[in-house]
Amino acid sequence: MKITSVLSFFLMLNCSIHSTFSQIRNAPLTAKDIESASENYQRYCALCHGTEREGNTADFAPSLRSKSLMSTMPLNFLASSIGFGRPNTPMAAYLKDMGGPLSMKEIFNIASWLKYESGHQTIAIKEEDISGDLDEGLKIYLKECSECHGIKGEGVTAPAIANPAFLAFATDAYIKYAIINGREDTKMEAFKNTLTEAQMNDLTSYIRSLTAGWSPEPKKLAPYPNPENYVLNPKGKNPKFNLREKRYVPMKEVLDALQSKKRLIILDTRTTSEWQNAHLPGAIPIPYYISEEEITKGLPNDKTWIIAYCSCPHAASDKIINMLRKKGYKNTAVIDEGFFKWVNDGYPIIAGQAQDPASK
Ligand code: HEC
Ligand code: HEC
Repeated sequence: MKITSVLSFFLMLNCSIHSTFSQIRNAPLTAKDIESASENYQRYCALCHGTEREGNTADFAPSLRSKSLMSTMPLNFLASSIGFGRPNTPMAAYLKDMGGPLSMKEIFNIASWLKYESGHQTIAIKEEDISGDLDEGLKIYLKECSECHGIKGEGVTAPAIANPAFLAFATDAYIKYAIINGREDTKMEAFKNTLTEAQMNDLTSYIRSLTAGWSPEPKKLAPYPNPENYVLNPKGKNPKFNLREKRYVPMKEVLDALQSKKRLIILDTRTTSEWQNAHLPGAIPIPYYISEEEITKGLPNDKTWIIAYCSCPHAASDKIINMLRKKGYKNTAVIDEGFFKWVNDGYPIIAGQAQDPASK
């Protein structure tokens, strides 16, 4: 890790996070670091990025071992992607200051370990500000890229390249390198033989123009709900749900149950930082990485309906529901459409520190 890149990382950070970060030194990975990073990776990341870092296990999460990514993404960019996530995508923020489960040291350990495991040396791509024709860039983008990356770069089956948290760190040279070389063993092909140099410059400039500026803000964290309030509408009747594949409940039925004051429990199975951003009314944070021993704490096993959701839209919630079913919980289900659809359709959510039915 180069001092300059660490500095630019620090510069982007607000003071209170800054002090936590400045503890981290450019220390080589010890055997113990490797062991704990690999354990943390399996616990927190494998769900989507795969046990072998191959990507695409859920949510079209990118490969974390392709040579082109691991050799060009600077360590601070990698650590920032993990610590602050990519807002509005399934990639959550894992840093404690953001409401996530990991310390900065643990995050840097995972980042360094990912580089180490990939076996690819970090190469310095020559920095350059690339200029090109934005209209041409848009045309080529819509023809060659939007199918996977989305019309507005919002991400469909491929990363959201218009995401401000991505563009804050991705330099022009980094973006162009990805276009030229693609990402080995993924759907991202190398465009060096299909596009001209000028076209790749147009594209890079166009992608660059999608940014709106971003810097991570430490969060004021909302208190977590009390176990006494886990059951919503405790005096209400049990709802009736029509499950697909004995597991998936349409979100409309969950909304109806909430509005008609039925008795139920809602679990937010995403990373806790996502619960901090916004969640369903009364949802309690039971993240997918919770341990077998902890999962049942405060959850009554008395046929009260337990409904889980995530943004994946199923990977994290399926995992939690499987754990509960194994422990004998009846009446459990997963919201079929997932969190983003719930939000996009204007269903009610509790944002930030707003008063929550479960914490009353
Ligand atoms: C719920 C699924 C999920 C989990 C769990 C998850 N990720 Fe991700 N991750 C994603 C998705 C999806 C993206 C792409 C986001 C986008 O559209 O930009 C991503 C992007 C990334 C990137 C950026 C890669 C690139 O090509 O720009 C890194 C690095 C990363 N994740 C590391 C991690 C690590 C390390 C963990 C564990 C601490 C983790 N992720 C956990 C889904 C996940
Ligand atoms: C067939 C689908 C597909 C098409 C078409 C496609 N990409 Fe990609 N792209 C991907 C996937 C998948 C990834 C993530 C690869 C991985 O690491 O797993 C990616 C990654 C990238 C990245 C790196 C993002 C990061 O987080 O580091 C850039 C930049 C990019 N694509 C730009 C483009 C551009 C520009 C085009 C059009 C010329 C394009 N892509 C066309 C699927 C596609």
